[in-house]
Amino acid sequence: MQKKEYQFSFDVYESIQDLTEADAKLLSKAREVTEMAYAPYSHFKVSAVALMNNDEMVNGTNQENASYPVTICAERVLLSAVSSIFPNEAIDTIAISYNSKNSAVPISPCGVCRQALAEYEERTHQPIRLILSGMQGEVFIIKNATDLLPLSFKSSSLKNSTK
Ligand code: THU
Repeated sequence: MQKKEYQFSFDVYESIQDLTEADAKLLSKAREVTEMAYAPYSHFKVSAVALMNNDEMVNGTNQENASYPVTICAERVLLSAVSSIFPNEAIDTIAISYNSKNSAVPISPCGVCRQALAEYEERTHQPIRLILSGMQGEVFIIKNATDLLPLSFKSSSLKNSTK
């Protein structure tokens, strides 16, 4: 038997004021874009804004549906948009924000979105930085989205399956 260890660390900033100009600009945009969410059921408006390698910014917001499971999270709306507008272009950073009754604490992507982010990184051979923050307060910066999904299932996993 051997023990394998997984380590994870991320940076915590007190507020948007402590970020670089570029990161602050992206997070401000994400905070603004929460207003574009369609969240009439949860009233939990989430945004994800990507800064692409080609310097373009792309927006995503959560899109809900009266049939609740049809809802798509902001992160996957964003990845679908990115992949349709700039196919195979790598993403440098994604800022994720949300606006709800109280949004002073960062949120991080749900499990399904972590899986989608991991595959986008794998496909473009580049880590995606994440900037996480609500409408105010602390900001978390994670260097690599895949760090949020240890032992993930990937395209290479399919090759190891038995027929
Ligand atoms: N939501 C996101 O957009 N991203 C996440 O990572 C977690 C949750 C949305 C889905 C739903 O519209 C609302 O937040 C409440 O779950």
